[in-house]
Amino acid sequence: MSMDGDLIALVNKLQDTFNAIGGDTVDLPQIVVVGSQSSGKSSVLETIVGRDFLPRGSGIVTRRPLVLQLIHTPDTISGGPGGSGGLSVGSQSSVRKSPRLGGLDEDGYLPNLDATPTAGAGVMRPGGRTMGGASGATYAEFLHINRRFTDFEEIRKEIEAETYRVAGQNKGVSKLPINLKIYGPGVLNLTLVDLPGLTKVPVGDQPTDIERQIKNLVLDYISKPNAVILAVSPANVDLANSDALKLARTVDPRGLRTLGVLTKLDLMDAGTNALDILTGRTYPLKLGFVGVVNRSQQDIMQDLPMEDARQKEEDFFRTHPVYRNIAHRCGTKYLAKTLNAVLMNHIREKLPDMKARLNTLMGQTQQELNAFGDATFLGEQHRGSLILKLMTEFSRDFVSSIEGTSLEIST
Ligand code: GDP
Ligand code: NA
Ligand code: MG
Repeated sequence: MSMDGDLIALVNKLQDTFNAIGGDTVDLPQIVVVGSQSSGKSSVLETIVGRDFLPRGSGIVTRRPLVLQLIHTPDTISGGPGGSGGLSVGSQSSVRKSPRLGGLDEDGYLPNLDATPTAGAGVMRPGGRTMGGASGATYAEFLHINRRFTDFEEIRKEIEAETYRVAGQNKGVSKLPINLKIYGPGVLNLTLVDLPGLTKVPVGDQPTDIERQIKNLVLDYISKPNAVILAVSPANVDLANSDALKLARTVDPRGLRTLGVLTKLDLMDAGTNALDILTGRTYPLKLGFVGVVNRSQQDIMQDLPMEDARQKEEDFFRTHPVYRNIAHRCGTKYLAKTLNAVLMNHIREKLPDMKARLNTLMGQTQQELNAFGDATFLGEQHRGSLILKLMTEFSRDFVSSIEGTSLEIST
């Protein structure tokens, strides 16, 4: 694997470590999806992953943050833990291989991010399949449950059940995240966060200050200076009213780490278009705007396969009288490609800072350990040394990945 690939894998590893020791101590780059309710956040996230697995629909569906870590695993010819059948439910339609996808895989989708020839553009390949019909092992794990999922329909059900368990049956929202990891040969290493939509009017069990609560929840994620904000705005609502852009601007006033996503381009009034927005003439964002067409509610109800939806999206841009000239930088695939580039640059820029933070944390841990030296609590002591062991292990990986720099580890 290339240096870049290692780098992102390492960041994911570090994140695991910090999660395991119960802290959000190091700000790691994450792509955070922000927008008003039903703007299409979950739909966008799902198309980036290339799988049907997120609860989505009209009204408030996403009621807890979902921290989704995509983890690239090496390709294997004979099926691994997932079995040779790959994903059982929901994959039937998506295993149909689109000839277009095959070609597009090679058109410069940051090949350095992933050395395997079967990797897609930061998205899962249809059915997670490899060349020659062999199927790679794609599976998922939740933090809250000790079980491996290979069926994406079940993953969706588990997200729903977990949402109900903590946020109740009646439209309540909880800050407590659901952590999900998806492993597979067809994914690139990416961490994405899906969030409840910004809303104004309380419904169901929602408290009267729901607007403020969700805003604060979203701010928790996007105010981290190295979060990449995926600001989702529906094209059929005036951009001046975009809650996503308004909130993103409060934490990223210069628009340096906000990527605009314009959904529902298919739902704009006849005779109107979003060309000025998509070409950056309306709202300044350094990372620009990408227009997408997700599945409609009708498509969802009719179980329109993701592959078909992609094709439909591609056709939409390619044949559109206004968008066809910029079709090559529209759509989900281009969004995934942009995201990969953004993430890579982001990590590169943040490396020195992460190193410094890690150093501090190591120092603190050492101090705690010293204090534990006198403690009679064996359990505590044990925990302390475990943390140190973990930290040391990952720090060494970290160090060896940064050429020409060194991190002092005091063990
Ligand atoms: P979220 O609340 O922001 O997560 O939005 P969802 O992803 O749950 O989508 C809300 C509704 O909008 C669903 O019924 C989607 O089918 C629909 N939707 C999302 N994006 C698009 C789009 O680009 N075009 C159309 N026609 N419908 C969309
Ligand atoms: Na929704
Ligand atoms: Mg949602």
